[in-house]
Amino acid sequence: MKFFADTAEIDDIKDLAATGLLDGVTTNPSLIMKSGRDFIEVTREICGLVDGPVSAEVVALDHAGMMAEAEKLRKIADNVCIKVPLTIDGLKTCKALSGDGTMVNVTLCFSANQALLAAKAGATFVSPFVGRHDDNGFDGMQLISDIRLIYDNYNFGTEILVASVRHSVHVLEAAKIGADVMTAPPAVIRGLFKHILTDKGIEGFLADWAKTGQTI
Ligand code: G3P
Repeated sequence: MKFFADTAEIDDIKDLAATGLLDGVTTNPSLIMKSGRDFIEVTREICGLVDGPVSAEVVALDHAGMMAEAEKLRKIADNVCIKVPLTIDGLKTCKALSGDGTMVNVTLCFSANQALLAAKAGATFVSPFVGRHDDNGFDGMQLISDIRLIYDNYNFGTEILVASVRHSVHVLEAAKIGADVMTAPPAVIRGLFKHILTDKGIEGFLADWAKTGQTI
């Protein structure tokens, strides 16, 4: 499963990229707002930090407006992936851009039927929001299972990008289902490395090692 960082914070992206385990980055207008940075500038900087796809989201609601924004965004770098909302105009834009060889991430997906439409529109990625789905009394992971089943039934190439990931159990369940990608806030990704027994184990080994009086 590929790991994307869901952030526009440069220091976090640099830190995670240094692990060698970061496959891409996703941003959205809220994350750009939180970064306090200029959208084009910060996107360019992020694209230089990772080799994989960097999602940059359009804000126009109509097809022509989305195409005009996508034209500006895709000039930023070769690894920019245009993020469009799951609306009729968003999918028209997806179809046009993907037909042209541009990576497209269809975002704000909340149903398996919407995911089916995104795949038919040639999306590179579809982003079902599991956390927000759970928040509203639905089962986010059931949505991922349903999309996996449908995409496998028809051999769709669209990758399932599990978004709105809030904790490590979301990552575990997504991996068990066979999602292609997950995007998570840096703190959630860092949390995946942690286990209390790992920390305790290191503590015990170091205490015993000190007693040997040896060095390596
Ligand atoms: O980038 C889209 C998605 O991951 C947002 O997550 O936590 O704002 O629901 P969240």
